[in-house]
Amino acid sequence: MKLLFKNIRAVDPSQGLDCITDITVTDGIISGISENKSAVYADRIIEGKGSLVAAPGLFDMHVHFRDPGQTYKEDILTGAAAAKAGGFTGAACMPNTKPPIDSPESVRYVIDKARQTGINILPFAAVTKGMKGEELTDQKALLEAGACGLSEDGRPVENAELMRRALELTNDSGMLISSHCEDLRIINGGIINKGEISRKLGVRGMDRASEDYITAREIALAASCGARVHICHVSTYGSVNIIRAAKRDGIKVTCETAPHYFTYTDEKLLSRDADYRMSPPLRTERDRQAIEEAVLDGTIDCIITDHAPHSADEKSVFESAPNGVVGLETSLAVTLTRLYHPGKLSLSRMIELMSVNPRKILGLAPVSIKIGEPADMCIFDPELRWEVIPAELHSKSKNTVFKGEKLRGRNIMTLCGGKIVYEL
Ligand code: DOR
Repeated sequence: MKLLFKNIRAVDPSQGLDCITDITVTDGIISGISENKSAVYADRIIEGKGSLVAAPGLFDMHVHFRDPGQTYKEDILTGAAAAKAGGFTGAACMPNTKPPIDSPESVRYVIDKARQTGINILPFAAVTKGMKGEELTDQKALLEAGACGLSEDGRPVENAELMRRALELTNDSGMLISSHCEDLRIINGGIINKGEISRKLGVRGMDRASEDYITAREIALAASCGARVHICHVSTYGSVNIIRAAKRDGIKVTCETAPHYFTYTDEKLLSRDADYRMSPPLRTERDRQAIEEAVLDGTIDCIITDHAPHSADEKSVFESAPNGVVGLETSLAVTLTRLYHPGKLSLSRMIELMSVNPRKILGLAPVSIKIGEPADMCIFDPELRWEVIPAELHSKSKNTVFKGEKLRGRNIMTLCGGKIVYEL
């Protein structure tokens, strides 16, 4: 079986590749990258017209697939279907399932089920047993079982000394800790960013200090024991400044943000629609701008989605709904629309943020468009205009902040392990 991608723009920053070319895939393996393959016989020809893009498959290092325990919201198969539709050939699932992923057996449960998806779904495991913040998990056993990192996402490890010990142990285990930086006591029941909008709505706010404080704490703890640390979903200008300074000081910190933080502000909450609630929350224009700048200047290492499905029923009451938004099917399109089309971000840098860097941070094998490699690619049309209609999403849950948004650019085909796993 031979596929020919004709006149396609191949973008692979890991090789400095950005050119219009022909790519042939023979029995799943990339067999040719050069112009004028038109004379070659192929079972199927995909005409790129010089505008379709072929890039290494995207990787999202921060998703919630709710499996086991809350599969009415999402399961590994439906989460993977959403990932494939979005151009992702891999994702790392957070361990705040029911029960949490905190043992080799639970790690193996995710890995076994993920085999059915055709893409690479890997579990993070919890830093503490039962995510209770009391007793550390066995890092080496979790790593051996296949965990790709450690996190208590949804919350931080409250006890700073316990967190310091966990970080110290990673020097030996080699695992990455990805930290959700929000102090729950400062949050104190807040549901949206604390400021003008929370006052206007008369709801309790989430003070930005909750994020800045734990970001600074994690960096100080990592620095004290020479460990690396990854900061989850950065949303404040304060955190950006702290991380930028720490990187300048040579501290081993990496971080991520999600498209909603460089797209929207807490003005969206004026609608009293819980689909715009997530933690950390949408902030102010100053924060939005700082996040965008940090993506562009390299302070932020990767774009994740924090894909956090919740049912329509759960999201129906503004004040009591759980935090979280789905994002796998809109991430690429929103990044193209908000950052690439206005000329702020090159395609090559975008692929670094969404494919190369997340794999690098997790220590996973790189994916590249190279002869002899199994095809692991997303094919997207940067010009395709579409509207986000929640009912059309592959995810079981429809809680997207981008509902009704008209976007420019869309993934049209995903290949993983040499197979076409999605086509629009
Ligand atoms: O909004 C969020 N939802 N943020 C998190 O960190 C956790 C997530 C969830 O699990 O729903």
